[in-house]
Amino acid sequence: MRVVVTGGGGFLGQRLARALLERGRLCDREGAERTISSLVLFDNAPVAGPLAEDRRVEVLKGDIADPRTLARLIAPGTAAVFHLAAIVSAEAESDTDQGYRVNLCGTLCLLDACRALEVPPRLVFASSLAVYGGRLPPSVGEDVALSPQSSYGTQKAIAELLLADYSRKGYVDGRALRLPTVVVRPGRPNRAASSFASSMIREPLSGKDAVCPVGKETVMALISPRRVVRALIHAYDLPESSVLDRRSLQLPGFSVSVGEIGEAVRRAGGEKAYRHILWKRDGAIERIVSSWPQRLSAERALSLGFVADKGIEEAVEAFIEDDLEAQKALS
Ligand SMILES: NC(=O)c1ccc[n+]([C@@H]2O[C@H](COP(=O)([O-])OP(=O)(O)OC[C@H]3O[C@@H](n4cnc5c(N)ncnc54)[C@H](O)[C@@H]3O)[C@@H](O)[C@H]2O)c1
Repeated sequence: MRVVVTGGGGFLGQRLARALLERGRLCDREGAERTISSLVLFDNAPVAGPLAEDRRVEVLKGDIADPRTLARLIAPGTAAVFHLAAIVSAEAESDTDQGYRVNLCGTLCLLDACRALEVPPRLVFASSLAVYGGRLPPSVGEDVALSPQSSYGTQKAIAELLLADYSRKGYVDGRALRLPTVVVRPGRPNRAASSFASSMIREPLSGKDAVCPVGKETVMALISPRRVVRALIHAYDLPESSVLDRRSLQLPGFSVSVGEIGEAVRRAGGEKAYRHILWKRDGAIERIVSSWPQRLSAERALSLGFVADKGIEEAVEAFIEDDLEAQKALS
């Protein structure tokens, strides 16, 4: 089975690739387990490290919005595509052209490359809570109208519709997951407006300062990287019949206030770690973050077997187990 991960050099792409290689199999359209013989990691940034040494792994560098590259990427025999390549929220907001080129045109290019295959592949797309916005009910689920308040959210919402239409026409068997903000993201801060939610755990626990740009009362809906990776694979393995009428699924997340995140840091790293959190509000970030759902209802996903984290402690523990050592080694 040939499997493609776009954004395969990124945070979630790398973890997904590791999980797929460990698992070694995915379901085919008939629900039978098939061995992953080839895993293509596609990214426009270099993909290095131990994964690239696995004999099943092929690394392809290129631009998701280039149709010729995509024709090579989605070669005949491609059965599975995980579409994670994207420009993140703050960057898509500040660079409108690049956001639309990568997040919208890139997705359309990918769908067209899938359409050219003789056998339609199954495709899992990483969408986002940023598709919702404006005046939201206390708990947000799939029945809430899409009303994105950012270019990034708009691009994700359009991509979901494209995925549904290409699926309806039988060009792909698509499923989109609306991911809550993923915490804790290791490494350095990125240009996502939500980046601080990881920074304020990651940096203090590794002895560095982090700025929290929103008030302690701000509530966010979060998910851990472990749960996201499991969800992406679970979404892939679902039979098409379970997503036929609706291709987009709201993933479950846990809700936590930023003040409670600070307290979880205090419990894990003591007073010393807590003092590394610097509370400095930033109106621009606050506006974006306050437009996102604070609580999620994900009944359909839960009934289909997706599982939520128990809470912020689980996400912090996962970071300490999986990433803290490497994080401390970063200069
Ligand atoms: N991490 C989160 O909190 C979160 C939340 C909701 C949705 N998502 C979505 O999940 C997916 C993965 O997120 P992530 O956190 O791993 O992000 P990431 O930035 O680490 O990974 C995205 C990857 O896409 C690649 N990319 C960007 N432009 C490209 C192009 N033109 N051609 C090819 N590759 C390109 C980047 O180099 C990067 O490696 C994204 O689609 C993101 O929008 C993430």
